Order: sequence, then C-alpha cells, then structure tokens
Amino acid sequence: MKLNLIEESINTELEIIIIKNNNIESDNEVLQKLNFKGEIDTSALLPELGKLYIGCGEYSSDNVRCSVAAAMRIFSDTNFCEAIIEAGEYLAEVVEGIELGSYSFTKYKSNKDNKKEIEKTINILVEKVDPKTIEIFEDAVNLSNSVNMVRDFVNTTPEDFYPKIMAKKAKKIAIENNLEIKIFGEKYFTEQKMGAISAVGRASRHDSRLIHMTYAPANPMKKIVLIGKGLTYDSGGLSLKPADFMVTMKSDKSGGSAVLGIMNAIAKMKLPIEVHGIIGAVENMIGGDAYKPDDVLVAKNGKTIEVRNTDAEGRLVLADCLCYAQDEIQDFDYIIDYATLTGACVVGVGHYTTGIMGNNILLNNKLQESALKSGELATILHFNKYLKKTIKSKIADICNISSTRYGGAITAGMFLDEFIKEENKQKWIHCDIAGPAFVEEIWGCNPYGASGAGVRFTVKFMKDLIAE
Ligand code: BES
Ligand code: ZN
Ligand code: ZN
Repeated sequence: MKLNLIEESINTELEIIIIKNNNIESDNEVLQKLNFKGEIDTSALLPELGKLYIGCGEYSSDNVRCSVAAAMRIFSDTNFCEAIIEAGEYLAEVVEGIELGSYSFTKYKSNKDNKKEIEKTINILVEKVDPKTIEIFEDAVNLSNSVNMVRDFVNTTPEDFYPKIMAKKAKKIAIENNLEIKIFGEKYFTEQKMGAISAVGRASRHDSRLIHMTYAPANPMKKIVLIGKGLTYDSGGLSLKPADFMVTMKSDKSGGSAVLGIMNAIAKMKLPIEVHGIIGAVENMIGGDAYKPDDVLVAKNGKTIEVRNTDAEGRLVLADCLCYAQDEIQDFDYIIDYATLTGACVVGVGHYTTGIMGNNILLNNKLQESALKSGELATILHFNKYLKKTIKSKIADICNISSTRYGGAITAGMFLDEFIKEENKQKWIHCDIAGPAFVEEIWGCNPYGASGAGVRFTVKFMKDLIAE
C-alpha cells in the first residue's frame, strides 16, 4: 500500500467514508435500502458512486483503527487502485488501520493473488501537512511495519525459521538500524553454566542462540531491558503435546519476534531510551538426546530446577535469559519479558488479551493503561503466596510445573520471579501473550494467524514514559 498525505481533497476512484457515532450525512436513501446504519463491523460498498461506507460505531481511537482495517480488507478485494480517506482527529489510527488491515501472508501460496501484486494507493486527507503531522504519520508507519514484520516471522514455518534464522533476522535489523548485536551459541551456554536453555534445545537438529541487541541513543531518558521467548517450535519435548495442541506451535517464537519488532520500531522512531533486546531462540524437540522429566537442571544463577514436564520449556529458556540480562546489563529502569508461556493464560482471559504479571502493582497498572491506549488488550493477573507454594520441589530449589492444575499462568509467572534478583523485583513485568499472539480468525485490525502482539503496547508504554 502506498500512502500519501494530502491537504486538499482530490477526485479518486474510491472514497472511504467512516461513519462516526452512527451519523449518516450523505447517500441516506441508498444506505437505508442497504439497511446500513453505520454500526461497528458493518460496511456498504457503492461501486457506481465510488464510495465505501464503513461503520465505526462510537468515534473512538480503536474503533477508527479497526474500522479502517475492515475497509482495507474490502478495498483489497476490489480492483479499485486508489482511494481517499479523511484522517479527522485520528491520523495515527487511520494509518495503523490501513497498514495493519491490509496485511496478508502469502509466502506459501503458489498462485499469489494478482491484484494484490499491484500496489494500491491511499490518499490521507489531513488539515495540514506540517512537521507534527508528518511525525505522527511516520511513527504510525514505522510501528505498523514493525508489527507486520513480526507477523511474517511468526507465520513462517519452523522449517524456514529456526534459531539461526532468528539470529540472522536480528542481525539484519541491527545493521539496518545501527544497533549493537551479540549472538551466543551452545558453547557460551556451557561456559556460562546456563543449564536450563541448554537442556531445552538439546534434542533439536538446530543449535540454540541467545541474541542480545542494543539500541543506545545519546543521553537516554530511561534504560529498558526486553526479553523474549523465541521457541521456533514447541513440540512439547518428551512430554509430547497431543496432535491437536501441537499445531500452531510455530507461534511459540512470538515473544522473541515481538522483541525484534519493538527494537526495529523504536530505533526507526529514534526514541530517547536505551533499549536492550534479549531473545532465547530454541527449538523444543524429542530424540535420544532430549532432556527429560526427572532431570534436574542448573540455571545460570545456580538455582536448581526439577523438570517434571518438558512442555513447560519457555520458563526454562527465560530463566537463563533473565539471569543473563541481570548479570550483563547494569542500572536499568525496567525489565519486561514477552512469552507465549501458558495455555492457562488463554483459558483464563481469552484469546485476545495479554496477561500482565509482576510484583509492582503501579508498574503493572501503567503498562495496562498504555496497552489499552495502544489498542491492545491486557489484564493484570495477581501473584499470591498460596500459589507460590505449589512450585516448590522436594528434590531441587524449584519445580518447572505447579502441583495444581489451576492458576497456571500465575504459577508460570511466579516461576520466572524466582530468577529476578531482589534489587530488580520492582522493575520487572512478565507479559503472557499466549492468547493474542496467534489467533486463527480475523479480529479487529489483526489477520488470521500471527498478530504481532506486544509491539504496539510496548512502544506506547515507552512513549508514555518519555511524555511523563
Ligand atoms: N508454548 C506453550 C504455551 C501455549 C499454549 C502457547 C497454547 C500458546 C497456545 C508452553 O510452552 C506450554 O506448553 N505450556 C504448558 C505448561 C504446562 C506443561 C505446565 C501448558 O500451557 O500446557
Ligand atoms: Zn511447551
Ligand atoms: Zn512453549
């Protein structure tokens, strides 16, 4: 999609009209015949008139984003090549709706849709094309492109996207944006006694990687560490997943992919924050060399972990990544991890919502607020002392699964808490994105498959910090 900012209306093939607050002001007669009332999730295409009406319901930030995305799906399916849309008071949302809504993943289609190959143009009508408007526009484009990049990574099959490829993608992003990057392999894990990440990847034919990228602008206002679960495939390991549950586990790299997207976005936006992105890229497989239920692993911080289920592998990878981050990076303000960590989180809060956890209630609230403003849903799940007891082990310092089947998202979060140093307890947030990262239906401005969850809310969180 090609986007132009314009100050004066022009005649184009198709005018996209957002109906605000169910308030229809033109073509009333024909729209009434079509029973179009401007409600959210409804539309009316009038091809002869070159108009596409799109209902937005209440005129609000996310309703605009989602209705523009819906308009894009209709526009994409037509042979109209150029359209115009008025930004109104929601320029960023209109741009995000366009870019996020017109995303499609065609990598594995042999006959790619011809009309999608032709680049379409959208003219966005704004009051004034001044520097402020251009900045909002460019930020929204960079954000959306980063989200779409994450979607591409996550949708790519495990045959085409394994730890080495994840590292290659990270390198490409680093080079493009002038970021520092360090990539470590199995040898480093052995030297550093990172027994947890090391065990999870052992049965895979693909060697694991730990990726550390740094965006370091001059005079940063804050310093933030991001950590992502990058399981390029999660078969469950010897505690093998049932067939139906294994499908979609290419999406277990969503946390790590989100970190790549965030690094790309903030570097392009030149935010005045130092950001470290750390990704544990690993494949969880079976084989004679696989780690086992009954193993006791030793993490980088010396803590011993009893493995009772090899499918609870994400927390093991993250444990060593969290240790690495806290050993290698000094004086940061926040440390945030992203992971498709538990099915329990999806059961608990549904497919569309991220579970936020941590010890700092105010910080959790702040992140949730930024998330809701960004158009991503998030809810806070609270730790408690009773659930904490359920991850005790009889033979090691801690167990990788809980003794109860209930509260699985929280017990997984509390497992990670065991690897947060005392001085960092209040700086840490855990985001379980298992629900929203990959959904097999179109929802809001998201397509079938990967959504790029985490990118928008984190960038918003950072922008809100700067504005404080
Ligand atoms: N990657 C999965 C979690 C998951 C499930 C993500 C569904 C997205 C959709 C994770 O590694 C896992 O398998 N967790 C187990 C933990 C259990 C063994 C304690 C789970 O949720 O069943
Ligand atoms: Zn698993
Ligand atoms: Zn997993």
